[in-house]
Amino acid sequence: MAFTVKNNISWVGKIDWELRKFHGDEYSTHRGSSYNSYLIREEKVALIDTVWGPFAGEFVENLAREIDLRQIDYVIANHAESDHSGALPLLLREIPDVPVYCTKNGVKSLQGLYHRDWNFQVVKTGDRLSLGDKELIFVEAPMLHWPDSMFSYLTGDEVLFSNDAFGQHYASEFMFNDRVDQAELLAECIKYYANILTPFSPMVLRKIGEVLDLKLPLDMICTSHGIIWRDNPAQIVEKYLQWADNYQENQITLLYDTMWESTRVMAEQIAQGIRQADAQVTVKLYNLAKTDKNDAITEIFRSKAILLGSPTVNNGILVSVAALLEEMKGLKFRMKKAGAFGSYGWSGEAVKNLSDRLADCGFAVVDQGLRLTWAPDEDGMQLCRTYGAEFAERVR
Ligand code: FEO
Repeated sequence: MAFTVKNNISWVGKIDWELRKFHGDEYSTHRGSSYNSYLIREEKVALIDTVWGPFAGEFVENLAREIDLRQIDYVIANHAESDHSGALPLLLREIPDVPVYCTKNGVKSLQGLYHRDWNFQVVKTGDRLSLGDKELIFVEAPMLHWPDSMFSYLTGDEVLFSNDAFGQHYASEFMFNDRVDQAELLAECIKYYANILTPFSPMVLRKIGEVLDLKLPLDMICTSHGIIWRDNPAQIVEKYLQWADNYQENQITLLYDTMWESTRVMAEQIAQGIRQADAQVTVKLYNLAKTDKNDAITEIFRSKAILLGSPTVNNGILVSVAALLEEMKGLKFRMKKAGAFGSYGWSGEAVKNLSDRLADCGFAVVDQGLRLTWAPDEDGMQLCRTYGAEFAERVR
């Protein structure tokens, strides 16, 4: 239900406790999510964003309990993606003439999605909309993460409505950053950045710089997913600046799949070699057949280097590893190093295949990789440990 965010700003969105997959099957949401919509009641009344389509009826009913819908003067569509615009068709059936403020690309996307000719008002960076004593200032944020995305800033209250940026898929009844488990919050923030915003990092750096140059005081960041940043909102802006700048921790992650355990044994022996060579580095292992894809991506995001392993099957690699490579290609990781390993019985193409595809994904492949026939014996396991130690040195 609605609650006060600050002064005349109310949250009127939807917490989606059940959500476990977002973007179809693309993003795992272990902790649910929320679609945050905000009602600003000044002399003029503005509604910022709505919720995902399946909750449209509930949203409009709840909103009508909060305010006579005819009193809404402006609808602000910061982003056209369905999780924020999904209730617009139902809402605008009730108030068809209300102006909908969005970017030029927002009009294209909303018309493409809903095929309605609403009362669109196109805005660009720096445009202002008076609500009485306070104003909304619009800032276009193209490719953060769609071409139409924009932020809206409310003067007086000093609140930035950032839509997807600075959000997380995190359902919580507490709704403010100072009231939730900080480790959970950070985990969801970095997962969100790694899986959604990584390819747009150069734009993130540029846009944050541009917004900081405006020197707008910032008291709160109201995102469209997850909690509201009211306690030191600059902290998430600082995190974004770090994450967008070719982020890495002192971590090497081994990701593999295995048919008859030989490639798993190789992974564990290589990890042992890494640890023997570098006691400071964090080493993590994930079997991709058993690991959530988005969690794996988050670990890659944190890593300075990865090792990818697959046995050779039908002259190629296992599907779970191929799927990860496809995902990584789109995410455009930068400044990360990589190597490959795997066991084989007779043809043994997997390691070269992996190395080539890692390079194609933008990783600096630091060696030829390691392949072993059949199951590793003692000598094979020693070769793995030696390879791990050498890899640790190459990426140190
Ligand atoms: Fe939360 Fe890009 O939609």
